[in-house]
Amino acid sequence: MKAIIIGATSGIGREVALKLLEEGWELGIAGRRTAELEAIKELYGVSRVKIAAIDVTSESATGALDTLLEETGAPDWFLHVSGVGYQSGPLDEEKELRTVMTNAVGSVRMISHFLNYVKLNADVYKAPGRKKVRIGIVSSIAGTAGLGAAPAYSATKRMQSHYISALSQFVRMEKMPVRFTDIRPGFVATALLSSEKKYPMLIKPEKAAKYIVRGLHCGRRVVTFDWRYRALVFFWRLIPRPLWERLTWVNN
Ligand SMILES: NC(=O)c1ccc[n+]([C@@H]2O[C@H](COP(=O)([O-])OP(=O)(O)OC[C@H]3O[C@@H](n4cnc5c(N)ncnc54)[C@H](OP(=O)(O)O)[C@@H]3O)[C@@H](O)[C@H]2O)c1
Repeated sequence: MKAIIIGATSGIGREVALKLLEEGWELGIAGRRTAELEAIKELYGVSRVKIAAIDVTSESATGALDTLLEETGAPDWFLHVSGVGYQSGPLDEEKELRTVMTNAVGSVRMISHFLNYVKLNADVYKAPGRKKVRIGIVSSIAGTAGLGAAPAYSATKRMQSHYISALSQFVRMEKMPVRFTDIRPGFVATALLSSEKKYPMLIKPEKAAKYIVRGLHCGRRVVTFDWRYRALVFFWRLIPRPLWERLTWVNN
């Protein structure tokens, strides 16, 4: 089995890569920090790990993805993990825009390009006995409702979930052999979180990778973890918008 992981240099993406490698997968992994990618390649060998320097905010990202796909071969899973997030004090325009460019523009760039790759390689993907290709995106529970502590982050995570929902309908309209998984973690102890804050119900990245890989293997449409966050988002959804917008003590 083969997978491409965009955003495998640290945190959740790295742990998912290591978990799949333990399961015997061949990977194409990407991110901007090539030293981190090289380190994974050295651990598992060039025959199983191909790497690419990809900045999803750059127009050159699609060309680099094409090269990675050529080297790896048609993947069974395509996982988009790359993302940035900042918790605002004062609203920082530059960070808000960087979040939109990375999370929203970057994920649309990578996923739509990969969908066109699947279309171009229909003979491979529609071969008898071949399973549907699975595209997974790591969005967040932060997309459930507008979060004042991280406005662009929350909005772009909502956008990612909505995009996947729209594409799930699109691939059926186009009769494409593709299915999607929207991965919505709660707080995971990675570099994305501020080291100065305390986060409730924090999950280790290794545990997050277990939930993700299990959800993908089961072909789940949405994976929210862990159960405490599933309960939390259930209650969040019950709060009427006028009341939600007055909950100014929600700081994380
Ligand atoms: N940690 C949490 O609590 C949490 C909760 C819910 C959802 N998430 C989501 O999980 C995903 C992974 O984040 P993480 O928590 O594992 O944090 P992380 O350790 O900071 O990982 C972020 C990953 O995104 C990549 N990335 C960032 N900007 C990029 C760019 N311009 N081009 C290509 N890759 C880029 C990074 O690679 P390079 O820097 O090498 O490019 C890195 O591999 C994000 O989408 C995040 O929103 C995290």
